Amino acid sequence: MPIPRRIILDTDTGVDDALAILLAMRSPELHVEAITAVSGNTHVDQAVRNILITLETLGIQDGPPVARGEEKPLVKPLFLADDVHGGDGLGGVTRLIKPDGAHLYTPPEGRVSRVSAVDLILDLVGRYPDELSLVPVGPLTNVAKAIIKNPVRMRKIREIVLMGGAFRVYGNMSPVAEFNIFVDPHAAQIVCDAGIPLVFVPLDVTMQAVLTAATIDRYAEANRVAAFVRDCTAHYVDFHRKRRDVDGCFLHDPLAVAVTFGEKLVRMTSARVNVETAGDLTTGMTVADLRSPSHDGLSPNARVCVDIDAPAFTQLFTERVLA
Ligand code: BDR
Ligand code: CA
Repeated sequence: MPIPRRIILDTDTGVDDALAILLAMRSPELHVEAITAVSGNTHVDQAVRNILITLETLGIQDGPPVARGEEKPLVKPLFLADDVHGGDGLGGVTRLIKPDGAHLYTPPEGRVSRVSAVDLILDLVGRYPDELSLVPVGPLTNVAKAIIKNPVRMRKIREIVLMGGAFRVYGNMSPVAEFNIFVDPHAAQIVCDAGIPLVFVPLDVTMQAVLTAATIDRYAEANRVAAFVRDCTAHYVDFHRKRRDVDGCFLHDPLAVAVTFGEKLVRMTSARVNVETAGDLTTGMTVADLRSPSHDGLSPNARVCVDIDAPAFTQLFTERVLA
């Protein structure tokens, strides 16, 4: 087995973010150096608690440092996704009660880094120049703030593999915008301009990565982690049934984690990606010419995932997280 790749997972810990943490911690190809929180699906303070609950479910006492990040986007007011992820970001699991009256899922105390997410990202890039991959699966506010603070150091990141964008498919926040980019488009444009190698894992591929309700049910009693997956996805699956016509849920964020070590799961094309920050109707749109060769005459700043081996990915997820 090659040396595990060092990553930082930056999450706005909603349901599929928690699933991404489970996959990252269960993947021997990765060494998770830190998990950082940002506001998005839920407020950053709840996002921190949800990271801790997820690590606790895995039985990890001495895991990677967990750091609190930015509370609101760079320019826009904060927009949360309670309808998709529940008021606590984890589909209401924090309200579940055991027969003895105690909460089923509670965050352990005292595990939060004293260093902010932005400073922890910069510290780790300084410690591991050209080695570290950053995997943001929420709005890009923490990453943009780190770039603003030290753009030279941030160019020592090996690559950023981010969940975000919608290129040849409709968005999930507007006809053209995906949630993570829509929430903080100004941050996303800063990331696009930073000169760091980028991989976009957009809705084009993540909406093909479906964990079926039948699979969740099949494993639910198998072990504590599978039971947590059932508990935290119940509301999320309900949303997908009612609003996405899917009997299960999209594995948006876990796919970004898997692409970090498993590029064979997807097909990518190089392009110059920009983000619409001004348009009334198009805010958060990811704009790129994905034709090969592209007709825009611009130098690429990213590789964009355009196709996925969905059965291979869902099998990987099921084996590592549920079984
Ligand atoms: C993205 O938005 C969030 O709701 C999910 O966690 C994912 O990161 C999908 O658009
Ligand atoms: Ca997310």
